[in-house]
Amino acid sequence: MNNIEKAEEKLKKYNQTHILKIMEKFTEDEKEKISEQVNEMDFENLTNLYNTLTKEEVNLGKVIEPISALKKNKLSPDELDEIDNIGKEIISSGKFAVATMSGGQGTRLGYSKPKGTFKIDVLPQPKYLFEIVCDTLKRANKKYGVVIPWYIMTSEDNNDQIIEFFKENNYFDYPQKDIMFFKQGQMPLIDEKGKLLIGENRLIREASDGNGGIFRSMKLNGCLDDMRKRGVKWLFIGSIDNVLLKMADTTLIGIAEKKNVEIATKSVLKNAPNERVGVICKKDGKVGVIEYSELPVKLAEAVDEDGDLLYGESHIMCNLFSLNILEKLSDVTLPYHKAHKKNSYLNENAELVVPEEPNSYKFETFIFDSFNYVNDIAILRGCREDDFAPVKNKEGVDSPATAIELYNKYWENNKE
Ligand code: UD1
Repeated sequence: MNNIEKAEEKLKKYNQTHILKIMEKFTEDEKEKISEQVNEMDFENLTNLYNTLTKEEVNLGKVIEPISALKKNKLSPDELDEIDNIGKEIISSGKFAVATMSGGQGTRLGYSKPKGTFKIDVLPQPKYLFEIVCDTLKRANKKYGVVIPWYIMTSEDNNDQIIEFFKENNYFDYPQKDIMFFKQGQMPLIDEKGKLLIGENRLIREASDGNGGIFRSMKLNGCLDDMRKRGVKWLFIGSIDNVLLKMADTTLIGIAEKKNVEIATKSVLKNAPNERVGVICKKDGKVGVIEYSELPVKLAEAVDEDGDLLYGESHIMCNLFSLNILEKLSDVTLPYHKAHKKNSYLNENAELVVPEEPNSYKFETFIFDSFNYVNDIAILRGCREDDFAPVKNKEGVDSPATAIELYNKYWENNKE
């Protein structure tokens, strides 16, 4: 059986015969290419995801309880010193690395290029988001006398643009041999009837598989091997869109070591029930996060006797993982979450349809679902003014304007 025949059989078996109809309009070469894609795809897994995720309510776990974090400002100067010294030793002995996730799309920001290439008008001069992360790493390198290995996660869509951007900017003077780019994985898009979408490029449409894909991608792309070779023990994984992100955080690293845990996370206090951040809590006895898109209003608004939000510990994408747990997580399939989105597609006459309403599902895994694979994690409460100034929206909350204000204020008070 040739490739095309094999694909035909598979498409019939999994009820995707609309694709055969569209393929009638394709050239032999196009038929060959889409058949290759079909033959490699895991249709069993996709069918299961469609049957479970799109028809069920979100599974939050049976027992959800609030959790409290260790507050940095409640540590005595001696305790803080002890913890920071542990962290300093880890960084200065080369056992620490950083990963920046930049596979996201930045849709809310209304910026079509990779989010890290967005320039924001901070003082003393405007900087790209990638440059801000790079400058933070360079300051740490100088302080601890090392070069922190920097892994950058890209996506199929933005990988070439990101690499080109770094070349054009001379890697912002970061040693090139210590920057490693790697692509995250993809998942096919599925419409409301469980049918795969065909895109303008005449292939099945796929989209990034969510930031939880980082563990597997790091393994597949040799980053975990590279970490091992370099003697790295701890990896900080952060986002690209927080201009106050502290990566080489000696307190976070020190606490993880001291508590002998494999994962540590830094939180800040949530500022309003509807703030779009995940909340850290206990799910069936273990530390977990409920994403803002899945948090029931009742839980979001619940307050304690002092009137403080019961679920107020925000996940700010400030997470630390040991190499040991990264290796385990790279073999795990994290649970998928669905997102209902607008996606264009070719109809049976191979004509492009651009929907006006959400018409399809994207399946993603979330990085924080990895917390469920360890018995305990350390949670350190930081402070918003020092740790969290995200660039998410074009205007209003969490926009370039709010991030610039927080960034400038922080650097005004923390002159070097
Ligand atoms: C994310 C968190 C949320 C947290 C908030 C803090 C998840 C699922 N949600 O939400 O709990 O409170 O940040 O700012 O983690 N990314 C990829 N590949 C993808 C998707 C995202 O690399 O497939 C990267 C983005 O480039 C970005 C980071 O993950 O660096 C966060 O992405 P985004 O999905 O925009 O975050 P939020 O929805 O704001």
